[in-house]
Parts: sequence; structure tokens; C-alpha cells
Amino acid sequence: MSGECTVAAPANIAFIKYWGATDLEQAIPCNASISMTLRECVSRTTVRALGAGVADEVWHATDTGLRAADGAFRDRALAHLARLRAWAGTDRGLAVATRNSFPADAGIASSAAGFAALTVATLGALEIDATPQELSILARRSGSGSASRSVMGGYVRWPDGDDAEAPARQLAPAAHWDLRDVVVLVQTGAKGVSSLDGHRRAASSPHYERRQTLTPGRLATVSDAIAARDLDRLGPVIEEDAIELHLIAMSSNPAIFYWCPATLRVLEAVRQMRRRGIEAWSTMDAGANVHVICSPAAEEAVAAELEELDGVYGIIRDGVGEGPQAIVGSLFDGAAS
Ligand code: DP6
Repeated sequence: MSGECTVAAPANIAFIKYWGATDLEQAIPCNASISMTLRECVSRTTVRALGAGVADEVWHATDTGLRAADGAFRDRALAHLARLRAWAGTDRGLAVATRNSFPADAGIASSAAGFAALTVATLGALEIDATPQELSILARRSGSGSASRSVMGGYVRWPDGDDAEAPARQLAPAAHWDLRDVVVLVQTGAKGVSSLDGHRRAASSPHYERRQTLTPGRLATVSDAIAARDLDRLGPVIEEDAIELHLIAMSSNPAIFYWCPATLRVLEAVRQMRRRGIEAWSTMDAGANVHVICSPAAEEAVAAELEELDGVYGIIRDGVGEGPQAIVGSLFDGAAS
């Protein structure tokens, strides 16, 4: 009766961004998005199935042991556990311990990794088989739309086709194209305005409608560029779409400024690198940190140069990854690898 499952689920970086929703609670998006699943930025989560009717528990696993989760994080996790339990048709309680390998709420899709991990580990603990499509829809219902992409590896489009409630689909596996993501950390703390509020305000920007007309063409370009492993084609469109997301945020009502001065420094340094022939392109989710997409050959030079910039306090060298993996150990015992 004691099912337990531990998984590592990755964050992802959007190449074409999800921004704006028709239903925020269930994350029904106004536009399709495409992302690359990462491999280093992961959320490790253990879920243990308890007895029937036993209260759920949510814990953060830390270096000094387990700490009870609180606030909005706990509420969202409990709501998702209730949703998964209803889907699975069980009344067993669930205990969760979770830990991220990277700073939360800073534009590294922590909710995406967290809710993908929670979804996959819960069904694992309950010993219920689910297809990737079912996992994608369940993860999306957490309210973190980007979580619907993190249950798959490689390059992922969500939703698949014209139905906004459709699951994500893998466009290509990680092995298809070894792209790197040099994550440049310029801000540690949580961002001031959540993605949820950003989605809520998006349509108030005068630039929002225009982006909606451009998105289908951009999605097609990104899909083609991924299929052809063509960074020259991919780069300009992902940088343009990211800048436009922030343009919309800055011109929403009330306005949202995710950037900090070092964000602009990184953007400029990346533009200068391109003038010197280094192929690297910037993108940012809803936060100040910059993800620099480049080839394996350029990664070393990109990371070394950006690390030296004023206001940069760290670099995470990441790259395309395989999606959620079952891992050995339990976060309840203080270890999982
Ligand atoms: C800018 O509502 O999925 O990252 O739940 O906070 O992870 P979180 O965000 P979500 O919105 C994601 C917005 C985005 C773009 C994207 O990932 O597509």
C-alpha cells in the first residue's frame, strides 16, 4: 500500500511565449507556444501515497531537513493534489517533498518544473499509467501553462493544433539538436509580478493584438528552424518574440517591468557578440534573467564573457534535455540523485 515515486522534472525555456489566457485557473492559452526542455534546472519531487482519507502534506526538502510549505505555494500544491486524486479516482492522502536545483520565481519556469514533477510523481506513487498527452493536460490544469510542456523532452509545442485545450506535442527529441542555454542570473529574489498577473493584464497593452497576428508565422518559422537545426533562422525570431513579450508587459495597465539594468547589459553584450561572429540569441521569460541560446561550440565563450558583466551574479550552463525522469532515493530521507 505504500507507493512512493521520486522524479526530476525540468524547467523549459519558451522560444515563442505563452502570454495571455482565456481561462487563467486552468491555463487555457490565447496563443500557442514552443519551448526547449532543459536538463540542469530541475525540480526534484517525491510523492508518497498515504492511507484513505489521510490529510495531504507538502514539504520543502532543504539542506537542514524538511520544512513545511506555506502560503500560495502550499495552496497551489494542495489544489493540484486534489485535482490529481479526483482524476485518479482515489481517496488516498498524498505526502510531497520537493526541491529545486535553481532559484524559484526568477524567470526560470520554476512552476513549470514543479508542477510537471508533482503531476508525474503523484501518478507514479498511485501506480497509475498516464500517456504524455494526459500528463500534459493534467500539468496544465495546475494553472501553470508552461508545465504542460515540461512533461515532455526536447522541443515542444503547446497546444498541439488549434484546440486551446489540447495537450503539448514533442516536435523533436533532445537528441535531434544539441542547443545550449546559458542562463545569466542578474536577479535572485522572486519577481515583483507573477506570470499569472502578467497573463491577466496582457490584453490591456496596445501591442497585444498585433502580436497575436504575428504569432502563427513565428510558430511556423521556429518549427521549421528546429526541424532544419538552423540557428540563424531560429535566433532572430526568438529574440524578437521575447522582447515583444516584455514590450507588452511594460505597456500593460498597470505596467510591469521585469527587467533590471543588468538585463539590458546582457542583451547588448549578446548583440555585440553576434557582430563578432558568435552566434548567440537572447530570450527572457517573465523575469530579469536572460537565457542565451547558442551552439555547444559557442557556449564556453558566451558564458565566460557574460559572467564578467557588471550586475551578473551567476551563470547556469544548461541545454536541451530529455524531460522528466524517475530517480533513485527519496526526498523524505534527505537524498535523491
Ligand atoms: C513568460 O503561467 O506557465 O514564461 O506558472 O509562473 O511558470 P508559471 O508561468 P506560466 O506562464 C509562462 C509565461 C512565460 C512564457 C512561457 O513559458 O511560455
